[in-house]
Amino acid sequence: MEAPFSFGRVSPPIDFCDREAERGVLARNFMSGTNTTLISPRRWGKTSLVAAVARDLSATKGLAICRIDLLGVRDEADCYAALANGVIAAVNTGWDGFVSDVKRFLSQLRPRIAVSPDPSVQLSFDLDWEEVGRSPADVIDLAQRVAAERKLKLVVCVDEFQAIAGFKDSLAFQQALRARWQHHSDVTYCLYGSKRSMMTTMFSDPAWPFYRFGEIMELQKIANSKWSEFIAKRFDDTGKAISVELASYLAELVDNHPYYVQQLAQQTWYRTGRVCAKPVIDEALGAIADQLGYSFTSLAEGLSAAQLRLIQAVLNGANQLSSAATIKEYRLKTAGSVVAIKKALISKEVLDADATGKLSVLDPVFAYWLKNRYFAAS
Ligand SMILES: Nc1ncnc2c1ncn2[C@@H]1O[C@H](COP(=O)(O)OP(=O)(O)OP(=O)(O)O)[C@@H](O)[C@H]1O
Ligand SMILES: [Mg+2]
Repeated sequence: MEAPFSFGRVSPPIDFCDREAERGVLARNFMSGTNTTLISPRRWGKTSLVAAVARDLSATKGLAICRIDLLGVRDEADCYAALANGVIAAVNTGWDGFVSDVKRFLSQLRPRIAVSPDPSVQLSFDLDWEEVGRSPADVIDLAQRVAAERKLKLVVCVDEFQAIAGFKDSLAFQQALRARWQHHSDVTYCLYGSKRSMMTTMFSDPAWPFYRFGEIMELQKIANSKWSEFIAKRFDDTGKAISVELASYLAELVDNHPYYVQQLAQQTWYRTGRVCAKPVIDEALGAIADQLGYSFTSLAEGLSAAQLRLIQAVLNGANQLSSAATIKEYRLKTAGSVVAIKKALISKEVLDADATGKLSVLDPVFAYWLKNRYFAAS
């Protein structure tokens, strides 16, 4: 039987745990025209959450949701193509409508529709880049033009939005998008991406064009009590059993990190005959850490010796990193160098500081691996 847990892809409905409050807020923003930026560390569930809200609202009359992914999009031209294709696809189900909308809204940009012999491949079109270069607003405003003409409210969700920060002349491009998007009265934007530090800069730094573009929603992890219920039920639904206490222990072991909870639950489920016992969970975590050993080794190799020593101090629970005793014990030189190392590790997304400034290692399995394999061996 296939394990009732999945990770590494957008969480399918049956595998979706909680997020009730966040779904409510996001759905309300989509309906009321409030732009939202969704920020969290990697693999906490941004893409899955937006997909769930899109499903929740899919039957809402007068509302269309367009989802675009900028993963691998490297320049303005590709970005316009993704945007234009996404918008036209979101308001059409059939081939005829798609083709006629491409002609109707974009004929001045000489679109070329790619026809694939494979019916399962989505229709798509390309634009004449010289024409787009002459009037980029035709694409930037496309969502608003389509929404107004169709008398629809359109929600445009853009995943991996930070990709645009890597384009040539990116600030000018962001400026152009922002300047026009903020006038789109029938379109709501939801922008999110996996590089937290870049997303934070783009949306919270007054020097960047998207400063205060909309509400910033900082996605948190899922509560332990929700995970334990969810895991116990998934075991139960598939003829196995795990107590709520052990399910809670399982989620806690990986800091309630959504991706890893699913992975650890899956590995535990595979190793469980009928009823799950605690040592099985511990063994499953060890196996996951070993599986990831290769990539963790290269991650560790990319860190300086001083950075690693500071991480070790954090893992050992040293609470005053800048104190003379900690600096001496972990050979961190000066309080100034502690600050610099901390900053570098936070921007690399290795460490995270909570609201009180308390540091932790963001990836709970990396933390486990460092403690039980890497530092244990040295
Ligand atoms: N609400 C949820 N319920 C159950 N599992 C979830 C949930 N949200 C996320 N996950 C798990 O976490 C994994 C990562 O989620 P997702 O890809 O949505 O995160 P992300 O924040 O978009 O990640 P990235 O920053 O890498 O783009 C999913 O594949 C799934 O296993
Ligand atoms: Mg994602």
